[in-house]
Amino acid sequence: MCECQNEKKEKLNQLLEKYKDDKSNLIRVLNDAQEIYGYLPIQVQEEISRKMNISMAEIYGVVTFYSRFTTEQKGKYSISICLGTACYVKGSEAILNRFKEKLGIKEGECTKDGKFSIDVTRCIGACGSAPVFSINDKVYTKATLATVDQVIEEYSKKE
Ligand code: FES
Repeated sequence: MCECQNEKKEKLNQLLEKYKDDKSNLIRVLNDAQEIYGYLPIQVQEEISRKMNISMAEIYGVVTFYSRFTTEQKGKYSISICLGTACYVKGSEAILNRFKEKLGIKEGECTKDGKFSIDVTRCIGACGSAPVFSINDKVYTKATLATVDQVIEEYSKKE
């Protein structure tokens, strides 16, 4: 286990120590655990289940009910490409393929260094500016393959 994983585990332990005795803290714990790991891996859910004495079924129910929780690893820069009809017609599939080809990952995957992940989404309500994609909270409109090349270069230079 690498040092950063140990650090995360330690933070999770501290979090659970603080909140484990009151089951009503579950959402808060899940939220904070996701902050620590960037997502909620099954091992983390099991640890929460064990320490808080809450069944995995209940935890799974909460995790899947709230859209803000994710069980899939996201990159530091989470790329989301709209494949809604308007974007699709304007070529968003080519945008998706360019990201996949350049980053060497498929949708739902994360690069080995944890920097980028790719996901697809349905319409985000910006059809007039199709095709669109986002990186974290930033939305890119009227995207072209050149936009993809440009943003990958820009984000690769970031920490
Ligand atoms: S279809 Fe992509 S924003 Fe609406």
